[in-house]
Amino acid sequence: MIKNYFSFPHTRLRRNRMQQWSRSLTQENHLQVSDLIWPIFVCDKQGSYQEEIPSLPHIHRLSIDSLIKAAQEAFELGIPAIALFPYVENHLKTKDCREAWNDENLISRCLRRLKKELPDLGVICDIALDPYNSEGHDGFIEKGEILNDKTLEALGKQALCMVKNGASALAPSDMMDGRIGYIRSLLEKNGYFNMPIISYGAKYASSFYGPFRDAVGSSGSLKGDKKSYQMNPANTDEALREVMMDIAEGADMVMVKPGLPYLDILYRIKTETKIPTLVYQVSGEYASLMAAIERGWLEEKSTIMESLISFKRAGADGIFTYFAPKVAKWLKEE
Ligand code: PBG
Repeated sequence: MIKNYFSFPHTRLRRNRMQQWSRSLTQENHLQVSDLIWPIFVCDKQGSYQEEIPSLPHIHRLSIDSLIKAAQEAFELGIPAIALFPYVENHLKTKDCREAWNDENLISRCLRRLKKELPDLGVICDIALDPYNSEGHDGFIEKGEILNDKTLEALGKQALCMVKNGASALAPSDMMDGRIGYIRSLLEKNGYFNMPIISYGAKYASSFYGPFRDAVGSSGSLKGDKKSYQMNPANTDEALREVMMDIAEGADMVMVKPGLPYLDILYRIKTETKIPTLVYQVSGEYASLMAAIERGWLEEKSTIMESLISFKRAGADGIFTYFAPKVAKWLKEE
């Protein structure tokens, strides 16, 4: 019986692939607009200003007014959430990173405007010190060493500042030990019982973040690498440990980052933990796809869609992608 079931010619798997209607009917995974999270870079400029980021073709740093327009577009397209990343002027970067919890910093002002004008759009805020750190690292650094526990206090202040000003969810991306528990306790203590934490649990020390560091202006200041806190690309069991700890400490969703080179990690985390799992198609993935697309070496729409469906196949519940508005429009046209 079993043998017959798998045998040719009674079974011809191509039959289901022969026509569009049966290809649609037998499709196992689907990408929807509700899967998308759009990362947006902001800068402290007036009016409808936007500036190009050379290593991220067609992506701009946006002034607050331009951000509001982009967020409006995202909301109208049905994109559930955006993620904010600030370009911080050099004179605001310090060793003590105090700009990170300033109620008048760029992110705080963006949050207040977004909250007022688009109260139903999800706004995910990245927690890490790198945009504010004159040393370019996600944590405090002294004599070449990252100070884990001292960094937690700063991340806590940054988290509270974001929550007070209207963040919809906090996404710690710093990879310090114990940060989810620290931030969760602080939120409880301050009465923010329902603030979601999306942990960048499995975040690798990747070369694919290069264009992002240009976009937020941290590549110039970064000395050394982030290997003492971000994960070794050769590891997979360790990603499970990271994620399990984050769940125990109070994370509501976890994230894998980068995306395409780490599909195995995404698949493992989703199948073994069953927790809502997001994936970040990072700046270097965007840049490499765009570089080939712009040269005419890859076809734009089909390549981008294929990269995104691979995340769904591997188990992603949501995808951070710089392609979000473009893809949302394509999905609408279908
Ligand atoms: C900051 C942060 C980074 C990214 C998201 N949050 C850069 C880094 O860790 O150096 C990368 C995102 C991307 O490359 O698109 N901690």
